[in-house]
Amino acid sequence: MSIAIVTGGSRGIGRAIAVGLAQAGHHVVINYAGNEAAAQETLDAVQAAGGSGELARFDVGDEEAVSAAIKGIAKAHGRIDVLVNNAGISVDGLLARFKADDWGRVLQTNLSGAFHCLKAVTRPMMKQRSGRVINIGSVVAASGSAGQPAYCAAKAGLEGLTRSAALELAGRGITVNCVAPGFVDTDMTRALPDDRREAILEQVPAGRMAGPEEIAAAVVFLASDGGSYITGQTLGVNGGLYL
Ligand SMILES: NC(=O)c1ccc[n+]([C@@H]2O[C@H](COP(=O)([O-])OP(=O)(O)OC[C@H]3O[C@@H](n4cnc5c(N)ncnc54)[C@H](OP(=O)(O)O)[C@@H]3O)[C@@H](O)[C@H]2O)c1
Repeated sequence: MSIAIVTGGSRGIGRAIAVGLAQAGHHVVINYAGNEAAAQETLDAVQAAGGSGELARFDVGDEEAVSAAIKGIAKAHGRIDVLVNNAGISVDGLLARFKADDWGRVLQTNLSGAFHCLKAVTRPMMKQRSGRVINIGSVVAASGSAGQPAYCAAKAGLEGLTRSAALELAGRGITVNCVAPGFVDTDMTRALPDDRREAILEQVPAGRMAGPEEIAAAVVFLASDGGSYITGQTLGVNGGLYL
């Protein structure tokens, strides 16, 4: 059976990806940082959809913890077929007042976290001579976003990491791509002040936010047989927000 790891699978986009991959026949390892109840809800949703899964709590920013967890998963299942680097946080603030600690936290989770997980799956995937890695970026990697310097830098870095890893791993049958959502209805965007949400929504040509399952559909496609010759790409799923 195909084994898929989804980081940040307890909520939002990650939950929808976990359910989508489970419906497509993958056994899903649902990673989360600390919200066990939410992670359990994802596992319940996976099972309700007729799929199978398990929980794996670790901080993607902690390289040792990632390495130990992914080694354990590879040992238990004998393989790792799909990695979705979805875990992410957002800390907003104007550049002149942006705290170095917040900069470090955002880069550690959103960019180093993806690097740690990608590095850890590389060995089993190279041995299998197959694998799919899908990094969840953001439209702001290309467009920029005033008040989000660290988040934009991390997401732009993720695209560079995607292209570099794609080149390095293509000959081993491993694809590495990025899905870059626009504005999605999750806890992350619900935390924004109403006026900011409305201002962003006004700029979306589709006139609405995406549902998490609309992002998940792109991920499921890239993980499917149909995605076998696509690598190093960034697929925007953004309702026309930035073309
Ligand atoms: N929402 C949007 O509009 C939007 C747009 C573009 C891109 N994205 C990207 O899509 C991804 C998911 O966003 P979302 O809106 O679904 O976020 P969310 O609802 O805030 O959920 C974040 C998820 O990441 C997990 N997480 C956070 N830090 C972690 C860490 N250090 N280690 C492991 N897991 C960690 C959380 O786990 P716990 O539940 O345990 O806290 C949770 O499962 C992020 O990469 C985000 O940047 C979102």
